[in-house]
Amino acid sequence: MALPQRPAMTVDPTVDLGPISLSTPLVAASGTVGSVWEFAGLVDVSSYGALVAKSVSEEPWPGRPPPRLAPAGLGMLNRIGIQNPGIEAWQRETAPRLGRISAPVWGSAVGKEPAEFGRVAAGLEKAGVAAVEVNLSCPNLEDGRMFSLDPAATRDVIREVVVATSLPVGAKLTPNSEDIVAVAQAAIEAGASWLTLTNTVWGGGIDIETQEPLVSGMVGGYSGPPIKPIAIRCVLEVARALPGVPILGCGGIVSGKDVVEYLLAGASAVAIGTIHFAEPRAASRILAELIEWCESRGVSRVSELTGGALQKAGSYA
Ligand SMILES: Cc1cc2nc3c(=O)[nH]c(=O)nc-3n(C[C@H](O)[C@H](O)[C@H](O)COP(=O)(O)O)c2cc1C
Repeated sequence: MALPQRPAMTVDPTVDLGPISLSTPLVAASGTVGSVWEFAGLVDVSSYGALVAKSVSEEPWPGRPPPRLAPAGLGMLNRIGIQNPGIEAWQRETAPRLGRISAPVWGSAVGKEPAEFGRVAAGLEKAGVAAVEVNLSCPNLEDGRMFSLDPAATRDVIREVVVATSLPVGAKLTPNSEDIVAVAQAAIEAGASWLTLTNTVWGGGIDIETQEPLVSGMVGGYSGPPIKPIAIRCVLEVARALPGVPILGCGGIVSGKDVVEYLLAGASAVAIGTIHFAEPRAASRILAELIEWCESRGVSRVSELTGGALQKAGSYA
């Protein structure tokens, strides 16, 4: 006798991140898929709702001397120094290729002072990107501190960018700030459409044989699975303090269950980064795992998951 078949369930993977509708909740994190067109030439990008190109500044930045990347514990340290060719060269190289990519591409702007971010954002829009993520994890020329450590500096940058482009603008914050809610609030008040939470965590490591730091400049950005609880803490804090603010969760995602965790914490979508280095096609596996998890729990729309843990977390205030 044939066993009764479980009716095939279709899970709707679409989500909204503020004003942006995404075909899936997965976004490729900036700096981990090049300028996207190279990556899209090798990997089917249909599992992504969007892909973020590596950060670009106004003038070319040479980046840091080697070593720039090192495995460290269960994660990775990087000190690339945001090497990039500058917005004009980036436009020349990338703009003609964007139309051939079957998923939306977002630009990522960096700068040394607020007005530079604005000029870069305008250049990214001219190149044809669909949205601009602002990488606030770079040093402010004024005091050498990362913009997103400081609510006022964050507000100044986002204001410049929002005026310079008509595209949706996201503020990508560092988890290293003392008060991420204050920084998040400043970014939203200045006009950001979403928050990316978060960039890498400061980390360091020593090669005990050579007795030298693992990355140049001693300290670098730590990424991969060990940072997930830190980034989720940021999502929880911001989602609870600023209900309804669109959040792109980012940090340490390697599986569909990790995505569920971020969504339950309050994210509307997630960005995946370091996993691309070990598994360039990870997005299709992670999306399949997410859909399977939803099917097994009777969740018909991925977007239903957003913030699911927050009501429960309310009792722990
Ligand atoms: C090699 C490398 C380069 C990165 N470059 C950028 C960058 O140019 N701009 C940016 O906003 N984030 C950059 N990031 C940070 C990632 O986008 C992401 O926020 C971070 O790695 C945490 O996610 P993950 O643990 O999934 O990698 C980079 C990360 C890595 C590992």
